[in-house]
Amino acid sequence: MSAREVLPSLLAADFSRLEAEIRSVEEAGARILHLDVMDGRFVPNLTFGPLIVQAIAKLTSCVLDTHLMVVEPAHLVPAFRKAGSHWISFHVEATANVPGTLETIRRSGALPGLALNPETPFDAVRPYLEGLNHLLLMSVSPGFGGQGFREEVLPKIEEARRWRDANGLSYLISVDGGISSRTAPRVLRAGADLLVAGSAIFRAPDRAKEIRAMREGGEG
Ligand code: DX5
Ligand code: ZN
Repeated sequence: MSAREVLPSLLAADFSRLEAEIRSVEEAGARILHLDVMDGRFVPNLTFGPLIVQAIAKLTSCVLDTHLMVVEPAHLVPAFRKAGSHWISFHVEATANVPGTLETIRRSGALPGLALNPETPFDAVRPYLEGLNHLLLMSVSPGFGGQGFREEVLPKIEEARRWRDANGLSYLISVDGGISSRTAPRVLRAGADLLVAGSAIFRAPDRAKEIRAMREGGEG
């Protein structure tokens, strides 16, 4: 997967007309869809499980990037993989067994990602970066869409980029929360490859234009 992609987060889509919502972001150029799974424990909100992921997989040929915001995610991995998730990430804060959970994802055939909350330092993921598909840096507190981008995450994006380049690693740097064409340039300049965006895309009058503006942000 080449760097610099915008990943629509379906959390902000109208689920009563999901097929049309997916079609519209595909037509706007999206190739990866971000799916937010919440358990009401790791975060104070509930969303959807494998049943809905399976329905989404039937509606699209986009890569499905599943972001698990759940405690002890390992036991859920096979069900999400079976439902059609291509990438599966979980939070470093959500389990004491990070290596085992990464291994469970790899064994399932999905590509593993590791997410971290805005307050969690980059050091917390440093031991697990080899062979990681993507590092998901949260730029809002996980749980809800529509929050403001947290500027203090910018140095962590820079740190993740420096560390990758200095150590010959290959994880993609994905940033999630409060991303719009207004905040994207700073996030891209800090070193992000993937921009996850919910409200900015689904509330835009012209979704294709918003996605293009995000992708091209910070160029030149
Ligand atoms: C928040 C989710 C995000 C969310 C982003 O917990 O992980 O993916 O959908 O929404 P916006 O782009 O509205 O901040
Ligand atoms: Zn997310």
